[in-house]
Amino acid sequence: MTLPVAPGPDPSQTTAASYLGQGARIGVFDSGLGGLSVLRAIRQHLPQAWLGYVADSAYAPYGEQDEGYIAARCDVISRFLLAQGVDTIVVACNTATAAAVHILRAQYPHLPIIGVEPGVKPAVALSVNKRVGVLATPGTLSSDKFKHLITTHGQQALIVTQGCPGLAKEIEQGQLDTPRLRALVDGFCQNLKLADVDTAVLGCTHYPFVAPLFQSALGAGVIIVDTSDAVARHTADSCRIRHARLVHHAQATSAAALSGPVSTQLWTSGDPEHLTDVARNWLALDAHAGLLT
Ligand code: DGL
Repeated sequence: MTLPVAPGPDPSQTTAASYLGQGARIGVFDSGLGGLSVLRAIRQHLPQAWLGYVADSAYAPYGEQDEGYIAARCDVISRFLLAQGVDTIVVACNTATAAAVHILRAQYPHLPIIGVEPGVKPAVALSVNKRVGVLATPGTLSSDKFKHLITTHGQQALIVTQGCPGLAKEIEQGQLDTPRLRALVDGFCQNLKLADVDTAVLGCTHYPFVAPLFQSALGAGVIIVDTSDAVARHTADSCRIRHARLVHHAQATSAAALSGPVSTQLWTSGDPEHLTDVARNWLALDAHAGLLT
């Protein structure tokens, strides 16, 4: 005799609202502390995911290094994160994405690898006078990926680019409002003000932590675009689809078991105490950072 089985909810129909990161193990990295802006957004979207963050502070900044140097660091960090069992990698660094995301994707074709790029597209859409500033590292601005981004999404506006050498390094110190930081930010905003931009893109993941300084240098009327939330949404979508596939193939239980307790772990190639303090101060995140080995 066959007993009728009550139809349960179709797990493959997990909605964006109901998926909070169950079973996901996400590795996030940056040249240093900047990617914490992306980590913060991912934590909001996926509170049940296991997250591992690597700050490559001993090798920061990447923004004034050549692509070979950055690609080698991305390789080391990705291997480390994969050894922690991650099933998704977020390259939470515009400079590293521009220099090396294509290499990582070629190396790990089955691994979802999410990169970040300056929010030129949303900025052009938001700008009323069609004058948009892009603040980023020299490495990001000189990359082929950025040139392609401007060709694809920047044609409907005047795009004023401004490299900010030294700014990420200053933010790495952990203080977010110092006279030196204000002077750097004011200097980098001069050309954007002269060009009368009404929208400015923060094209480096370090810069959202000093967004108030940019806002005060540029004036209250200028819209500041930061893509960390969009990157987190994209990451959540990718993990949700993967989770639905695993559930469909009845592998979700093992995936959830693998994911271990929900937590965020931090590692750095620099000073673990500094990362621990900064995560507490900037993200209200209590996690004792380890040394990247
Ligand atoms: N936070 C990084 C970015 O988004 C890089 C900063 C740096 O290391 O120069 O570009």
